[in-house]
Amino acid sequence: SSFDRKICDVTGKGHILTEMTTFWFNATRDIVPNHYLKSFENYILAKKCTVIPIEFVVRNIATGSLTNRLGIEDGTVLEKPLIEFCYKNDELNDPLVAREHIYAFDWASASELNFIVPQCLRINDFMQGMFKGVGIKLVDFKLEFGRLNQDGKKNIILADEISPDTCRLWDVISEEKLDKDRFRKNLGNLFEAYQEVARRLNILHEETNISPVKFGKLRSI
Ligand code: TMP
Repeated sequence: SSFDRKICDVTGKGHILTEMTTFWFNATRDIVPNHYLKSFENYILAKKCTVIPIEFVVRNIATGSLTNRLGIEDGTVLEKPLIEFCYKNDELNDPLVAREHIYAFDWASASELNFIVPQCLRINDFMQGMFKGVGIKLVDFKLEFGRLNQDGKKNIILADEISPDTCRLWDVISEEKLDKDRFRKNLGNLFEAYQEVARRLNILHEETNISPVKFGKLRSI
């Protein structure tokens, strides 16, 4: 996105994103294997794979670049999940591309896409259900995949991260944004929002968890 190069400097954010990504990689590893090996305070040790230069964006509710590009009303619930392909290139602002571009420039093969797209939908179903259970709408998110040679076989694994930096999450009741849009739209309370997501999913350890009463404006359940 156009925010890729802006630095979002919030103390403690690295830790919370590490915990969140670890949680989702563990939770979804039976759906699709991933590059996660081990987590530390602020980073993750991952298997080295060749990342496919496509961002797979899964959308359940129209917002962000989809509404800006096509004039669809913000918040429109999509009848079924929509998957978009973006070419990973910061200088070009990760432009939307069609399958035909992906094949024409050999960014991924048809068999790779035919494997990855259903995986995206399965991860979406799973994450949507878990978020719903804690009062959060999974509006959209972005996934990246990589190629890994294992025992003479070429496997596709989930790479990068899954966190509120790469998802849009709205509170089911207040529709409050609990994701990076708080930073993108200058809404403030970014760290508190991430803490709230982590608290609802029961991810953070006691000592780093903060009490919901300290939240101020954000609704907590
Ligand atoms: P968009 O509406 O800006 O295209 O973003 C769609 C979703 O994908 C949103 O949850 C943010 C995520 N995303 C990233 O994490 N990184 C990116 O580079 C892009 C383009 C989107």
